[in-house]
Amino acid sequence: MIPLSLARIAQVTGGQLYGTRPPLWGDAVVTGEVVIDSRRVGAGGMFAAVAGERSDGHDFAAAAVAAGATAVLATQPVPVPSVLVADVPAALAALARFVVDALPAMQIAGITGSSGKTSTKDLAAQLVERLGPTIAPAGSYNNEFGHPLTVLRAGASTRYLVLELSARGIGHIAHLCRIAPPRYGVVLNVGHAHAGEFGGLDQVARAKGELVEALPVDGTAILNAGDPRVLAMATRTRARAVTFGEQDSDATVRAADVRLDDLGRPSFTLLTPEGPAPVTLRLHGAHNVPNALAAAALARELGLGLDAIADGLSAAVARSRWRMEVHQRADGVTVINDAYNANPESVRAAIDALAHLAQGGRGFAVLGHMAELGDSSRASHEDIGEYAARACGSQLAGLIAVGEEAAPLLAGARRARSWPGEALAVPDGAAALDVLANRLKPTDVVLVKASRAAHLEGVAAGLLSASELRADDLKEADR
Ligand SMILES: Nc1ncnc2c1ncn2[C@@H]1O[C@H](COP(=O)(O)OP(=O)(O)O)[C@@H](O)[C@H]1O
Ligand SMILES: [Mg+2]
Repeated sequence: MIPLSLARIAQVTGGQLYGTRPPLWGDAVVTGEVVIDSRRVGAGGMFAAVAGERSDGHDFAAAAVAAGATAVLATQPVPVPSVLVADVPAALAALARFVVDALPAMQIAGITGSSGKTSTKDLAAQLVERLGPTIAPAGSYNNEFGHPLTVLRAGASTRYLVLELSARGIGHIAHLCRIAPPRYGVVLNVGHAHAGEFGGLDQVARAKGELVEALPVDGTAILNAGDPRVLAMATRTRARAVTFGEQDSDATVRAADVRLDDLGRPSFTLLTPEGPAPVTLRLHGAHNVPNALAAAALARELGLGLDAIADGLSAAVARSRWRMEVHQRADGVTVINDAYNANPESVRAAIDALAHLAQGGRGFAVLGHMAELGDSSRASHEDIGEYAARACGSQLAGLIAVGEEAAPLLAGARRARSWPGEALAVPDGAAALDVLANRLKPTDVVLVKASRAAHLEGVAAGLLSASELRADDLKEADR
């Protein structure tokens, strides 16, 4: 955070100073974090009051100041020092942009795509931190609140901002890029996440490409050579394009000799213009290879050396929860908790991981529905069911569809005629746990995955000890 007086905050946001002790406190300075959760207020920070579904932040204004906040950003009068604005997200956006402009030496990178933004952002942050002080959002904290609040954490010592940009419609990413204009833009893939809301993959590509359109002439677009819709974005930017992709592509940064260990963790040889280097990821699933390549390409552009990139990727941990977490129970059952979210591409990636982990044994897939697929929802669920039955074959002992909207998964699985497994429809997570309790044996592998709204992390919690899951993670923006 750069210190900002309340008078300055009012000026930047077009707001008015309000409260109990005018006029002097316009000189009061916000030196700490800006937050929207009053419980997270720290000394010298600012609390932005937001009216939510269940409670109204304005009710916590006094408590926030009592807890040390210098002031409150509010849309209604509150009995404490405050800046009254018409719209809190717009005010936060204006403040964030002010901070960016005040820190011209800070390098800004944005990462977008349909799947893997958070995983790639976490990998990239762990590389870029080797170059200097870096700010990156926690989890998927990247919506109209999380994005500016993350940017506002930057201060005089910050050298790098690594941001995750998500969109549910045209114009969203362009807006985020105006708040913090990136010089580096990474596009991972164009897939079916939120495709129903966008109206098809071409619209998704249009929206994701807003990131490269926002890049300056001296910027760099980092594009997935393996995704034609992403590669085509090279024509939509003034920036130089750099690519990442598979060994036999002509991408700048590539992976060769990809292997998975018995828990699905990839090893590969990172190929760069500077030479090759061995990498062993601590993350699970082959889909993390392109994520790692994207992070490597970004860090390389920022000046990190090959050895540091390879070391950094090999040391990087999963910072955000519930994405392909692999837990081994004392009784030998392996649980893959990928309950954070689901779309067709990420479910396929998870099924591939299940197929790998269950090799020579038995796998169970507990799948809830994939949200926001629009008209193609039923067909997509059927296709995924069939994919699971074919990819895992006889090793898929059970496919458990949780909830009515997930039921078409089972019809899809039955299309794979030779698949001998059980197809079971259950109403909720508790019923899924009952079904598993009667079936699981040591060495079995269970995948748990669904869209956020299905809350299947409860199934993972039921399979593991509850202490392995933190309710706090739910506070992440749901994107
Ligand atoms: N490159 C990828 N391709 C397909 N699925 C992926 C990829 N990267 C991550 N995933 C899966 O997508 C889900 C969301 O991952 P996350 O990193 O949170 O992406 P996002 O922030 O884009 O939603 C997880 O289930 C994860 O395992
Ligand atoms: Mg995310």
